[in-house]
Amino acid sequence: MAYIGPMTLRPILIHPDPRLKKVCDPVAEVTDELRVAAADMLETMYDAPGVGLAAPQVGLTKRLFVMDCIKDPEAAPRPIVLFNPEITWTSEARNVYEEGCLSIPEQYAEVERPAEVRVRWLGLDGATHEEHFAGLWATCAQHEIDHLDGRLFIDYLSPLKRQLITRKMEKLKRDRARG
Ligand code: NI
Repeated sequence: MAYIGPMTLRPILIHPDPRLKKVCDPVAEVTDELRVAAADMLETMYDAPGVGLAAPQVGLTKRLFVMDCIKDPEAAPRPIVLFNPEITWTSEARNVYEEGCLSIPEQYAEVERPAEVRVRWLGLDGATHEEHFAGLWATCAQHEIDHLDGRLFIDYLSPLKRQLITRKMEKLKRDRARG
């Protein structure tokens, strides 16, 4: 694999932003440019800190996300980079998890999704991978794949709750712009 060089933190887009609503394009080939983007995204995710980050959150409309749901600081990290991820199977059993999103800081809400999924993706090595995910990994993978289709976790909430959160984010953006 090519030398990637020092990683750079990339600014995370905050909702509402039209770039977070786009359906992302499939990746035709894992190029060095995309490897750099993936490395930067992992760095940005760990720094935030978060357990997942999708390309559109850093303004890249490509089907790519990164995740590492190992939360125990004593455990070895397990960063995964997924290009063109596809859900190939979902369990009938469902699970409710209190989700958050780095593009919607400090807002959390319960979202119900399939408890377990199988995901197929193209890895950094250019090979196809497939894995069964459960628990937080399954929730995270589905949340991140939603991002690639322009969908946010607040889209599962009632219009009223969604509006409340959106207004808070608009205010946060105004406050940040003022410095
Ligand atoms: Ni998110």
